[in-house]
Amino acid sequence: MVNDRVLVLCSTGKVGRNVCRALVESHFEVYGTTRSVSGPLAAPGVIPVVANYTQRADLERAFAETKATKAFVLTDYFKAARHSIELEVQQGRQAIDAAKAAGVDHLIFMSVADAERFDAKTHHIKAKVILEDYLRQSGVRYTILRPAAFFENLDDAANWNPLKKGRVSFLTDKSCKFCSTYDIGRAAAIALHHPEDWAGKSLDVVAWHGDLAAIAAALQTVSGVPVRPRLAMPIALRRLFLNDLHHMCLYFENEGIIAEPEAFKIIVPNALSAEDWFRFHNRYANGEPIVIV
Ligand SMILES: NC(=O)c1ccc[n+]([C@@H]2O[C@H](COP(=O)([O-])OP(=O)(O)OC[C@H]3O[C@@H](n4cnc5c(N)ncnc54)[C@H](OP(=O)(O)O)[C@@H]3O)[C@@H](O)[C@H]2O)c1
Repeated sequence: MVNDRVLVLCSTGKVGRNVCRALVESHFEVYGTTRSVSGPLAAPGVIPVVANYTQRADLERAFAETKATKAFVLTDYFKAARHSIELEVQQGRQAIDAAKAAGVDHLIFMSVADAERFDAKTHHIKAKVILEDYLRQSGVRYTILRPAAFFENLDDAANWNPLKKGRVSFLTDKSCKFCSTYDIGRAAAIALHHPEDWAGKSLDVVAWHGDLAAIAAALQTVSGVPVRPRLAMPIALRRLFLNDLHHMCLYFENEGIIAEPEAFKIIVPNALSAEDWFRFHNRYANGEPIVIV
């Protein structure tokens, strides 16, 4: 049975693509925004909508054209907001306002786990806290999803970390909490299917806990090839060149995200572990499959 229409913002990104996939699998009619259909589109079954989520007129048109009654909203500090907290807040408010004006009956907002606990130098997370508050005051029915670090960071060529056979890199080798963007989508589907249970609530999307050595061991098990864990860069360079992310990592290393995977698994029992995610992702950055059958 096909359910309601959902408009997913930024459907071609690491989050949007797998959120769309999970929503399609959960029988929603899924529309995904992208600024241009000339690039790779979102998951199969998703209807692309050419719209720039930073433009109010585009959002209004996207809601009007699709008649979506549900929305998945995320904002992006690094690209769309060009490293400006103020601009990210403005873009997020605008998306919430456009959804409200369109009469959307449930909005999922993607924030970050423990967003309010990161220090003042972790600029890229600050807008999330402000936008959560704005959403709470907006009058729109909402659910907030607060993910941990994405497994997708382990294969992120755009950020100089392509996944290669036999090695895996991350910005820290200490124990961290992770989730897959697919599980963000599965959690969104549950909230949208059960709005009475999820209205006004937040959920930490935390599916697995482990250090870089455990991630390498997971990839080794899945690929059958020896895997070497490696810091993406020395900590001194991380501090110098990626100071914002360095401070995020300091929080991961010294305090750690509070939520435990067991809590999320009550909601999504088969949430992906590191091994599961390598099987799910099943490709190196060069397109070669990880699992050889
Ligand atoms: N990485 C993590 O571990 C992590 C953890 C928790 C939360 N987050 C949050 O995840 C969000 C990033 O999501 P993502 O990883 O899916 O991002 P992404 O892969 O970089 O995708 C960005 C999306 O935004 C669109 N976009 C890019 N530049 C744009 C611009 N200048 N104007 C308008 N749209 C633009 C792109 O769509 P088109 O090019 O098709 O238009 C694309 O769909 C951030 O808010 C971050 O805080 C990340």
